[in-house]
Amino acid sequence: MGKVLAIVSQKGGVGKTTTAVNLAAAFARRGMKTLLVDVDPQGSVRFGAGLRKDHPTYGFADYLSGERTLRDVLLPTTLPWLRVMLAGSVTDLADHTNYQEQIASGEQLPRMLAAAKERCDIVVVDTPPGLGPVTRRTLASADRVLIPLQAEPLALQTTPQILRGVQDIVTTHEHLVFDGILLTMYEAGNPACESTVQYIREKVPSHLMLDVVIPRSPALAEAFAAGQPAVVRSPADAASQAYVNLATKLAERAAG
Ligand SMILES: Nc1ncnc2c1ncn2[C@@H]1O[C@H](COP(=O)(O)OP(=O)(O)OP(=O)(O)O)[C@@H](O)[C@H]1O
Ligand SMILES: [Mg+2]
Repeated sequence: MGKVLAIVSQKGGVGKTTTAVNLAAAFARRGMKTLLVDVDPQGSVRFGAGLRKDHPTYGFADYLSGERTLRDVLLPTTLPWLRVMLAGSVTDLADHTNYQEQIASGEQLPRMLAAAKERCDIVVVDTPPGLGPVTRRTLASADRVLIPLQAEPLALQTTPQILRGVQDIVTTHEHLVFDGILLTMYEAGNPACESTVQYIREKVPSHLMLDVVIPRSPALAEAFAAGQPAVVRSPADAASQAYVNLATKLAERAAG
């Protein structure tokens, strides 16, 4: 039986989707049978996950509405061990309330995740920003959680909020293993960035921080624009290597 790893953050734009896509690809490249699930109605995973050309765009929302079967929404990628479940047609709607209500009140999400981890070694779930109903329902079915935190001066203000979020998550979901806070978009040599990271390391207990740090790298956005995970498109890039190292560490932990 595999594990469900949720990528979560109260804040938007911190690198959740980039982390979910690249970690999933890095797990798959290790030979782990991997499913990447996008429950964020923004549906960004579809652009960067390495789906085959002319892939369908239906996904989890279309399974929820009864229009597609689970089998229909499991899409192959260019990596043999990676499959993807997109958010689906909810992405084209301006209003996501119905989708959120369906997830909050129905049993499909927990059932789907339970079935997925029966068949996979790891199920990586990209969630919407915030701790709303979709993220909470995901956390209730997840085994592990990872929180990306952008290494930027604003983190000085948001770190206490992030820590309250971590506390909220671990106290309300006792079964969850907290894999840690992942610093993203780190710029070595940028004094504002370096002092932010120093501040975070002083304020946050070290067992809550992952020691792998993701550097800021144009290769990540470039790969996304080209429809590929950076770990596939630019494996020698420092950010890709950081994601590969992180996948190794998390895979060892999850197996142990
Ligand atoms: N390490 C990095 N270096 C450079 N750019 C990055 C890095 N990580 C993420 N980005 C860029 O930052 C932006 C936000 O990243 P991403 O979409 O992964 O964040 P998110 O947390 O999923 O956002 P949202 O909350 O909207 O879902 C994207 O343009 C992405 O390409
Ligand atoms: Mg995202």
